[in-house]
Amino acid sequence: MISEHDNRRLTQVGPDTPMGRLMRSYWLPVCASSQVPTPDCDPLRTRMLGENYIVFRNTDGVVGVLDEYCMHRRASLAIGRVEDNGIRCLYHGWKFGVDGTIQETPNHCDERFRQRLKAPAYPCREAGGLIWAYFGPKNQEPPFQQYEFFQGPEENRCIFRINIPCNYLQLFEGGTDSSHVGILHCNMANPEWKDRASFVPDLDDYTSVAMASGDNAPELEIENTPYGYHYAAKREGPQVDGSPTHSVRATAVIMPVLRIIPLREYQFFVFEVPQDDHKTSTYIVCHGPKPFDREKMKVVLGLTDERYWRETDVEYRATPENLWFQDRSRINETWSGMTGLIPEDSSISVSMGPIVERPKEVLVAADAAVVRLRERLLDAIRLHEEKGDALGVSFPDLSRVRSLADTNVPVGKRWQDYLPHNMSPSSKTTEPAE
Ligand code: FES
Ligand SMILES: [Fe+2]
Repeated sequence: MISEHDNRRLTQVGPDTPMGRLMRSYWLPVCASSQVPTPDCDPLRTRMLGENYIVFRNTDGVVGVLDEYCMHRRASLAIGRVEDNGIRCLYHGWKFGVDGTIQETPNHCDERFRQRLKAPAYPCREAGGLIWAYFGPKNQEPPFQQYEFFQGPEENRCIFRINIPCNYLQLFEGGTDSSHVGILHCNMANPEWKDRASFVPDLDDYTSVAMASGDNAPELEIENTPYGYHYAAKREGPQVDGSPTHSVRATAVIMPVLRIIPLREYQFFVFEVPQDDHKTSTYIVCHGPKPFDREKMKVVLGLTDERYWRETDVEYRATPENLWFQDRSRINETWSGMTGLIPEDSSISVSMGPIVERPKEVLVAADAAVVRLRERLLDAIRLHEEKGDALGVSFPDLSRVRSLADTNVPVGKRWQDYLPHNMSPSSKTTEPAE
């Protein structure tokens, strides 16, 4: 059982908290590139780890991340003018470059003053359709990690951002919780759910939940990796060439906020980036070896229902006050009275309250991968507190770390052999001792 103390260590992300300091040791997504799509477009206000920032793209197309509040007298730059390779505060016209250089101060003519000071600006990069920033100490910027979805043509990738009103950890835990898949999502995983004998795997490319979820109590095998852990859900598989198999689905979890969900042809990279203790920006990056149909995925995810989510502001709107838009009139035909993965997953997470009271839980063996997530996050906090290292950050290349879609693995053969790069993702570097 988890203590109050550890629950706070895991869930509080402000600047003066252990998890807040740990998260600031990694490069994290601050927004999708599509949210600041063109040079001199509107700036984007965004919140990360309990603090407010703006993201803007200058006339040359270069992106900058600054504190939201102008360094002069703290007006919001989110309503500033983006022009002439900088962002200008409306109040007194101070203008800043993407690196925080003070370009103009119309109400103060001293040029040396402008040269002496800089607005708080953060290192940022653009890769894989996301804008990334580093918010930690200046002299400790980590290597910029590479993921598989940075590669290949843009049409092979699509991104959804969803701002969900609850703590990041309950969303992250939901993504490492195999046993809910065939139950919460059985509208999709097993539409004939009332008749248990009728389960038929759905091999559609876009339906992540519907491949082998007929068995809701899989055996879990979990193994730590240098950047987090990976785990396999093993179910009884068919006889192949007269030999017994396990149907194995394996998921990789990368500190501090990423999991990779396997589909047959694609992989989903899901980042749960805390805005603050009570709100999370979820980024779902779908990526594979062939073009991806975003509209089709939107239907599977349940994001076409504008009561829940809109492309324009990406806010998740289902709350206790509107009873998560559950349609009780459909409760006899559908399992959840909701349609799509996001309304189900996110509403369940929001329904737990802003931060789950974990000391009150009653856990069972099926929760083992969730328990391991907490352990690895606490390991990572401890490593950071004691040695100043962030777990996994010394591996700049995570592009071959993968998850495994449901695969028939002969009994006696290791599922890890199907994921040869998960244990040593970059051969050139070594992990600091834990
Ligand atoms: S507050 Fe921004 S220029 Fe004065
Ligand atoms: Fe789910």
